[in-house]
Amino acid sequence: MSLADFVVVANRLPVDRVVGPDGEDEWRTSPGGLVAALEPMMRSARGAWVGWAGQPDIELDRFEINGIDLIPVPLSGEEVADYYEGFANDTIWPLYHDVIAPPQYHREWWEAYVKVNRRFAEAAADVVAPNGTVWVHDYQLQLVPQMIRELRDDVTIGYFHHIPFPAHGLYAQLPWRDQVLKGLLGADVIGFQRAQDATYFLTAVRRRLRHEVKGSSVTVPTADGTRTAVARAFPISIDTAPYLELAARPEVRARAAEIRASLGNPKKILLGVDRLDYTKGIRHRIKAYGELLEDGRLNVDDVTLVQVASPSRERVDAYVHLRDEIELAVGRINGDHDTMGHTAIRYLHQGYPREEMVALYLAADVMLVTALRDGMNLVAKEYVATRADNRGVLVLSEFTGAADELRQAVRVNPHDIAGLKDAIMTAVEMSPAEQGKRMRSLRRRVLENDVNAWSSSFLRALDDVRRR
Ligand code: G6P
Repeated sequence: MSLADFVVVANRLPVDRVVGPDGEDEWRTSPGGLVAALEPMMRSARGAWVGWAGQPDIELDRFEINGIDLIPVPLSGEEVADYYEGFANDTIWPLYHDVIAPPQYHREWWEAYVKVNRRFAEAAADVVAPNGTVWVHDYQLQLVPQMIRELRDDVTIGYFHHIPFPAHGLYAQLPWRDQVLKGLLGADVIGFQRAQDATYFLTAVRRRLRHEVKGSSVTVPTADGTRTAVARAFPISIDTAPYLELAARPEVRARAAEIRASLGNPKKILLGVDRLDYTKGIRHRIKAYGELLEDGRLNVDDVTLVQVASPSRERVDAYVHLRDEIELAVGRINGDHDTMGHTAIRYLHQGYPREEMVALYLAADVMLVTALRDGMNLVAKEYVATRADNRGVLVLSEFTGAADELRQAVRVNPHDIAGLKDAIMTAVEMSPAEQGKRMRSLRRRVLENDVNAWSSSFLRALDDVRRR
């Protein structure tokens, strides 16, 4: 088995299973920003990616796709239920998103999490070359850094946390809080989205483990002395090139016009694009919009809200309830306000290819990002990257990581429905000159700080630690 100098470890492999021309299964790379950012590096440095193929009970051999070695980690049906749907998405996810939904604490889920994290760590330790680099991603794998270190103390280990890290008062609820901190501290560099996340993590480390913390450095005791781990913010971004390229294509622009026409040519199209997740503030957005129609500040002949809510984690109870609530609210509002020619909300519980999303972004006069808590929110950055025409308004929740960077957006607190309604009106009524001024500044920020800048700066920090 060939070894890799650079190994990415993430819950999911960057592939989708598709049915080939003869009806057999095939794998295709999924077009995520993370793959795009790491692909060049993976090709030049003998790279491998360790992850789950997304389906229970299948054993796949190692395979190669577009020059990347993929190393599938199998999960049984029970492990999907306990590790993925359970501990990752019904314990850690709600706890780290400020308990918007109540986290469930179950000892069997924790045991499955430990067991599966060990499987990922072993797969990485088996494939990494002597003195190589391993980059672990996200909350599903918080124990993996320390587990790899125990198996292979010659390798440099990075960890990036894509979601928020909670304040200590909330974090302290976790029955396994010390084990998780120790797992993360196995990394040489622990990256977060916002400075605030890093601060909360360092506070938890100081208060729970009593390690010495100076600035962003932690002194971690080891069997034979101490080592240093660094925890700080590296805000993630998108691969901007495909958005610019698609936005310039005549057929995509034509599709944007077609979308507008198919909605009855409203004066303003408002857009929401989210995984159907309770962290996204979809209910708050729909409530505010419904009240604006009710109050007569907006009229269904002039505006339509397009809400794309892609299916997600559909076997977790909180997601099942959320879907019911949203669909009830959408049905009520449409029932009250639709006319034969115009709909208040065009709700789509579907995912779309990137090309269709870019057409939607181009059609949208106002983009509504009203998350109650979000590590970054890449949809906000996709919208901005797409709008090379310097038109359109981004309404952005202050509880997203993106709000730290995208200062020229219309900022909202989505819990404040009156404030959210006013922000939507500000966006709907904004003059083209003001839109242009804000969009130019937003675009400068997003185009300069793309996902390549993000991965380079993380890997540079990892390199600094290695040299020290
Ligand atoms: C968030 C997480 C990712 C996760 C994605 C989709 O962005 O940070 O780690 O992959 O949601 O969720 P899923 O459960 O389908 O992988």
